[in-house]
Amino acid sequence: MNNFEFYNPVRIVFGKGTIPQVQKYLPEGKKVMVLYGGGSIKRNGVYDQVVHGLKGIQWTEFSGIEPNPLYETCMKAVERIKAEKVEFLLAVGGGSVLDATKFIAAAACYPGKDPWDILTSGGSVVKAALPLADVLTLPATGSEMNCFSVISRKSTQEKLAFGSPHVFPQFSILDPETTYSLPKKQLRNGLVDAFVHVMEQYATYSVNTPLQDRQAEAVVRTLLDAAEDVLSKQDYDSRATFMWAATCALNGTLSRGVIEDWSTHEIGHELTAFFGVDHAESLAIVLPGVWKHQFENKKGKLAQMARRVWHILGGDETSQAKTAIEKTVQFFHSIEMPTRLSDYGITEAGIQKVVERFEQRGTVMGEHQNIRARQVGEILHLCL
Ligand code: NZQ
Ligand code: ZN
Repeated sequence: MNNFEFYNPVRIVFGKGTIPQVQKYLPEGKKVMVLYGGGSIKRNGVYDQVVHGLKGIQWTEFSGIEPNPLYETCMKAVERIKAEKVEFLLAVGGGSVLDATKFIAAAACYPGKDPWDILTSGGSVVKAALPLADVLTLPATGSEMNCFSVISRKSTQEKLAFGSPHVFPQFSILDPETTYSLPKKQLRNGLVDAFVHVMEQYATYSVNTPLQDRQAEAVVRTLLDAAEDVLSKQDYDSRATFMWAATCALNGTLSRGVIEDWSTHEIGHELTAFFGVDHAESLAIVLPGVWKHQFENKKGKLAQMARRVWHILGGDETSQAKTAIEKTVQFFHSIEMPTRLSDYGITEAGIQKVVERFEQRGTVMGEHQNIRARQVGEILHLCL
């Protein structure tokens, strides 16, 4: 097991009817801004529950944060925050609203001229941020219990991530009933995103982390078991299970002391930036390609997953690892998630665009630092 630190200060308030508890945990006497997206919270009653919890608190609001939140939109919120002297941010929505709020919190306190530095630096320039909290309405990203944020920039077609301990939410309210209004497509996306988060922290090579391995396997097995009920009915227990599993998939516990490989996410972000495919859709395309390309390096862990998650006990390591890839693709298809670039009309010319971007950036990825622009092209060819 590698050396590690673990710090996660997020208070989780989980369960039915918990939204009005914002009242209990918001700091007294501070001016709050409620940030949200395109209006789903107004249609499903979440907005009203939040407003109820804000009784007696001075607050204002900022709406219109889009999926794959834009830097341009975030900067409008920063202007309002400065003009109205807002002191605390409350995000209400999915990963996009949470991520935008984290960026806005950091940008509002950034002394430099160009807040885009926050993203190009990966977050190292962030020395302070406004305090923030959230009410989550979409299980998927884990943003509610981590310090990461992913922001897109329309003008340059970029999508970059940053992380900083200054943007951990102070508290996150997770009421599984908020998920009843989610369209099937968003539920499917959430299942796939959480599944792939576990894999990016698992399907590398072993450094003797039996507890973390079992925890990762538990989270994916739980997602697989819950998927059918999550997609077919409004059932509290399966939604609660899904919501907590998605949080646990990316709250830092699974990655402690292990070897990670986030290349599927890094390549996927470019597919979203250039072609507008949803985040989870991009992952379902790229993950099987990365695994096939890096098969020799990853086969030990993939075979372990086949044995422990799918109980594939026959055959040798190679055949078990191949079965793990097949089972993963079958899972994606079983929840109507496409897995090929061609499903979105992305062709050879599209691959070239992505490869050129990795060339320009000089990015090096993979647990063996062996995935560069050329290998990104090879991987994406496997996904056509
Ligand atoms: O804008 P509104 O009206 O709220 O509608 C949203 C949006 O259209 C809707 N929605 C959310 N909750 C709902 C609902 N509709 C009905 N009922 C509800 N309860 O769903 C749509 C998608 O929302 P979005 O927030 O974009 O989805 P998601 O949570 O999947 O977030 C995706 C973003 O998170 C980033 C992705 O890159 C992407 O930008 N990620 C963030 C991570 C992190 N912070 O750690 C890690 C992830 O890997 C990911 O990269
Ligand atoms: Zn993700």
